[in-house]
Amino acid sequence: MNRNAELYNDIESILLDRDEIAVKVKELGARITADYKGKDVILIGILKGAMVFFSDLIREIDLPLDVEFMAISSYGRSTKSSGVVQILKDLGCDITGRHVLVVEDIVDSGMTLSYLKGVLATRHAASVEICSLLDKPARRRAPLEVKYSCFNIPDAFVVGYGLDFAEKYRNLPDIGVLKKEVYENI
Ligand code: IMP
Ligand code: MG
Repeated sequence: MNRNAELYNDIESILLDRDEIAVKVKELGARITADYKGKDVILIGILKGAMVFFSDLIREIDLPLDVEFMAISSYGRSTKSSGVVQILKDLGCDITGRHVLVVEDIVDSGMTLSYLKGVLATRHAASVEICSLLDKPARRRAPLEVKYSCFNIPDAFVVGYGLDFAEKYRNLPDIGVLKKEVYENI
């Protein structure tokens, strides 16, 4: 999709371009390949936001690995976390003794993933680490170690490359800052 496409009309500015994202995803894949060599690793993609990042990242990891998905509740039609976390779709497998890498689109307050990490910790994995495409460290409200991330970004609401606002814009190939009037009118 080119950047004059109609979907870009609601975008104030492009924060991360598809080419710079691809470079970072490749670097991260190489790092994960080195760190998990010889380990039984399972990557858990968090639906729906991480789907684009997840599908690019797994193709940059040169290891035999398993993929699984979980869905957890997010913001609904708001731009702030409600603090109420709910598992909408759970894993279809046992993670006992396995190395788990949770793949997320963005860590904002950290509340969603710190809750999820707590849940996974009760399931006797060999390790549980977090891998997020984006991190907004300035907004953190829950303590959370994000071992792998591609970009730290400022406090702005972004969409594209899997990230949505009210379920839209996930199919933008770049990551852009959404125009304020778009979410203030809801
Ligand atoms: P947290 O619990 O506040 O860390 O929220 C994390 C979730 O909020 C992410 O998985 C996203 O679904 C959503 N989110 C946070 N910031 C943004 C953003 O800038 N754009 C789109 N979704 C976001
Ligand atoms: Mg999400």
